Amino acid sequence: MTSQHVVLVTGASGDIGRETVRILLEELGASVVATDIVLGAALDGHQKKYPGRLEVVIGDIVDPTISEKSVALAVQKFGKLTGVCLNAGVFGPGYPIDDAPVDKWEQAFRINVLSHLHTLKYALPELRKTKGRITSTTSAAGAEALFKRWGFYGVSKAAVGFLVKQVALEERENGVTAIGISPGLCDTQMVAGLLKGNQDGWGEKEAAKYHDFVSKIELTSPTVAGNAYAQAVTKADPGLSGLLVEYDDPRLPIAEHLKRKSAAVDYTKASAEAGK
Ligand SMILES: NC(=O)c1ccc[n+]([C@@H]2O[C@H](COP(=O)([O-])OP(=O)(O)OC[C@H]3O[C@@H](n4cnc5c(N)ncnc54)[C@H](O)[C@@H]3O)[C@@H](O)[C@H]2O)c1
Repeated sequence: MTSQHVVLVTGASGDIGRETVRILLEELGASVVATDIVLGAALDGHQKKYPGRLEVVIGDIVDPTISEKSVALAVQKFGKLTGVCLNAGVFGPGYPIDDAPVDKWEQAFRINVLSHLHTLKYALPELRKTKGRITSTTSAAGAEALFKRWGFYGVSKAAVGFLVKQVALEERENGVTAIGISPGLCDTQMVAGLLKGNQDGWGEKEAAKYHDFVSKIELTSPTVAGNAYAQAVTKADPGLSGLLVEYDDPRLPIAEHLKRKSAAVDYTKASAEAGK
């Protein structure tokens, strides 16, 4: 039986990615093409649990052939592509601007930004046929400068946000919807790495301030974030195209039990209090 929704998820072995894939498979009856540079244990498990509804492509998202292969697999195995979650990303080099190793910025920019262009190049012709949806994983760090040394990450996420608006502008008449969704401060490997202070250019001193910041904020669980992406990529109102929102924006289709109970976070205030 063919699924109503056929979704490509990048960064699918990561914490948010694996939950997005799980919810698509388990709760939304979708078929999924999942891609990542590594095969995580959860993704491996999903593959065994949902034979025939999950295809996995392992490779570096910087390589355009990974996107080409992933889109082609969706069409070949499941007959169409109805959605894409552009989720793969790295924190990247955490240096002050004048210390920034340019080659590291370039390489990380390929992952966080240019890979989206590759994926969209291959996905858009298929998404036009199905009036499909795209979610991009944006960040509060792409809207405001929150911390010293976050130049690469912030610039890359600002670019991702701009790309959402540009895709919305260009594709509205073709019926394709693009939404940027920030997962809040989400309890994932990326945040764990920052807390440990073992990221490139981001050591123990930086980690101490980050601890202070994180302690003021209720972390989003990967399940809650994954739910936002899975629901949005299958059901979001096309009228939302071009919007950049947080995972619990009331305009998104979110299951009631997963809605945030606490007040929205002021990240700028929290980072200022932590001393940036
Ligand atoms: N965790 C947060 O608080 C937070 C906040 C805002 C935005 N985000 C964004 O959420 C997305 C998912 O990150 P996460 O927090 O789940 O972290 P994560 O590290 O668990 O997941 C990131 C995934 O991207 C994959 N990836 C990295 N480089 C790749 C490459 N070159 N090719 C293919 N795959 C690659 C990793 O293998 C990993 O599985 C990222 O875009 C991140 O920037 C996270």
